[in-house]
Amino acid sequence: MSLLDHLNWRHAVKAFDPTKKVSQENIDKIIEAARLAPTSSGLQPFRLLVIESQEIKDKLVDGAFNPDCMRECSHVLVFAGWHDYSDQKIDEMYDMTTDQRDLPQGRFSSYTDKIKEIYNNQSTDKNFEHIARQAYIAMGFALAQAAELRVDTCPAEGFSTDLVDEVLELDKQGLKSIVLMYVGVADPERDWMAPMAKVRNAAEEFVIKY
Ligand SMILES: Cc1cc2nc3c(=O)[nH]c(=O)nc-3n(C[C@H](O)[C@H](O)[C@H](O)COP(=O)(O)O)c2cc1C
Repeated sequence: MSLLDHLNWRHAVKAFDPTKKVSQENIDKIIEAARLAPTSSGLQPFRLLVIESQEIKDKLVDGAFNPDCMRECSHVLVFAGWHDYSDQKIDEMYDMTTDQRDLPQGRFSSYTDKIKEIYNNQSTDKNFEHIARQAYIAMGFALAQAAELRVDTCPAEGFSTDLVDEVLELDKQGLKSIVLMYVGVADPERDWMAPMAKVRNAAEEFVIKY
């Protein structure tokens, strides 16, 4: 099976079977795919909140466009980003990089000086948008890994970020929710999307050649 087979297999699931759980082994692989996703300057400016607790999921049902998915999926993966970039966070990541690569500290300082200047001169909103884009790439990786494992998912922007931030106390951790992913076992009776054809622009339409 190729990656394209897996991507053709997946769809955004609309209803999960509340009695079925995804194995920890598969959840760990999906998390690992998100962790391995590339990020701009390698800063990994987001974290992954993994929710298995029914009590927490129930608290998040209000404000979810797909309340059944929130209530009945096996796990909710919330991608939450730093509020902003900071010199300190950039230094921490690059100190870790030089440590792990056995390089002298400061090896990348001319580069980090440049990115600090860029982010310090941009608004917090613009920086958060940039941070969010990194999280979306990671969600793409996680969706693809789940598909390879034949684990059902639904990516979702339809939720109250305020509620998620409050319930998960994200502010205390310097984070804000961006996007989430429902993970579970689809309920074939209620997942009305399952039989529908995958709809995408034709390649000739999608690709503009020069
Ligand atoms: C960033 C993003 C946000 C999405 N938000 C929602 C959502 O809140 N609720 C939902 O039911 N589907 C959501 N979707 C699913 C899309 O509607 C779905 O991926 C798209 O229609 C293509 O269908 P497919 O994923 O089944 O191939 C989202 C998808 C993405 C990528």
